[in-house]
Amino acid sequence: MPETGPRTYRDKPVSFVRRSGRMSEAQERAWTQLADRYLIDVPRDAAATSVARDAQVDPAVLYGRSARLVVEIGSGQGHAIVHAAAARPDTDFLAVEVFKAGLARTMRDADAAGVRNLRLVEANAPEVVQHLLPAASVDEIWVFFPDPWHKKRHAKRRLVTAEFAGIVAGALVEGGMLRLATDWQDYADQMAEVMDAAPGFRRAFEGEWAPRFDGRVMTAFERKGLARGRDIRDLAYRRV
Ligand SMILES: C[S@@+](CC[C@H](N)C(=O)[O-])C[C@H]1O[C@@H](n2cnc3c(N)ncnc32)[C@H](O)[C@@H]1O
Repeated sequence: MPETGPRTYRDKPVSFVRRSGRMSEAQERAWTQLADRYLIDVPRDAAATSVARDAQVDPAVLYGRSARLVVEIGSGQGHAIVHAAAARPDTDFLAVEVFKAGLARTMRDADAAGVRNLRLVEANAPEVVQHLLPAASVDEIWVFFPDPWHKKRHAKRRLVTAEFAGIVAGALVEGGMLRLATDWQDYADQMAEVMDAAPGFRRAFEGEWAPRFDGRVMTAFERKGLARGRDIRDLAYRRV
């Protein structure tokens, strides 16, 4: 009988569609000049955005020190994480994104701001959290405005699921925090349902929704949601 290999992430739907958009000249330049400083080179599995199972890194080696670690999943253009890294030099930051032009922009802005406590990884976020980061090594994980996949037939692509909660639980330190934000009410409801039921997490807010996280800067996605009259929902869950 033929051997069936281990199931990989590629057997499941991923939460992104890779945009083929070419990078601008400035972005290409930023990539060439700044990748050595900011971008983590990860061993891959089957797909270009995958992370090999044995790819684990030691954050202390990566950043050259031991410090609090904050990971942003789907960092887009990098506005939130560059701002946070510049404001909190005592903390280390990791941006996880599959959108190359966004990563190039993030590196450019980080360099312009003189930010050194930030690294970027171009990969599928659940694989980064599960395989690249050691267990119980992350203080906060941020997921702001994840792709909403609002059509019913696409719902299975949503990032925040019970399985995702389990992966995040493994990476967070005790007392660590998962912060979420979305402008799609039914995704906010899904996040609350999934996270309220997730083993190892406790709500870190009272009332229906968390107050706006003050470390979250306004991005185009939030602005667009507001312009369309949507409520912005923040959620926060503590690892217990
Ligand atoms: C709607 S955008 C929001 C970007 C940013 N957080 C903001 O608020 O401006 C979602 C981003 O998540 C990225 N993304 C989606 N699924 C991902 C995954 N599994 N791994 C890494 N990045 C992902 C997309 O490429 C996209 O840039």
